[in-house]
Amino acid sequence: MNGNESGEIRTKWNERFRSENFALGSNPSPYLVENIEFIKSLVPGKKALDIACGEGRNSIFLAKEGFDVTGLDISEVGLEKAVHWMKQERLLIDFHMEDMEAYEFSETFDLIINFNFLLRHLIPKSVAALNPGGVIVFDTIMDSPYVPSPHKKEFLLQPEELYSIFSGFHGKIYFPEERLHDQNPTAKLIFQKN
Ligand SMILES: C[S@@+](CC[C@H](N)C(=O)[O-])C[C@H]1O[C@@H](n2cnc3c(N)ncnc32)[C@H](O)[C@@H]1O
Repeated sequence: MNGNESGEIRTKWNERFRSENFALGSNPSPYLVENIEFIKSLVPGKKALDIACGEGRNSIFLAKEGFDVTGLDISEVGLEKAVHWMKQERLLIDFHMEDMEAYEFSETFDLIINFNFLLRHLIPKSVAALNPGGVIVFDTIMDSPYVPSPHKKEFLLQPEELYSIFSGFHGKIYFPEERLHDQNPTAKLIFQKN
């Protein structure tokens, strides 16, 4: 992706986040909530990264669960809302702007979450940035006739693709799911690195 494309993406998300409401709601992802006790039982520590954190709903949830969270996103409007919310909750989260397309990890994490965002080339880098025993929770949109709004095909997972990508890494996959008939068709899984 070149600088122009990154700029277009940032502008698109800034516009979407500019309303007072939360574009993806203020509740954390149900998959994260349902599995949080299991995730906490797996992780080797509390250092967490929220990739493309948007307005911060999942970062806030993880911070309340005792994680030391970094949230990265390309949209400064989304990040401003996340910081405002964090202050209201009296939490401390390291929210900052990054274009994940060009991102290089300079530290390692015990937990990485990736919700409603897909950059295929970032997946192996994320696995490499996990501490031994570290966990990735991945949940994003699939290509299906039921996808509600126009999405670029490159940002949609194909059937069985997520499982197949993670099968190539050394570790265990838990609770893989494809919900093709949901309002938002998604593929999800939890991966723990060896
Ligand atoms: C559908 S939202 C998901 C937000 C959040 N993960 C959630 O589930 O609430 C997609 C997010 O990806 C971010 N994004 C898109 N392209 C990006 C990039 N190249 N680098 C970082 N963030 C990006 C957008 O700004 C937006 O916040």
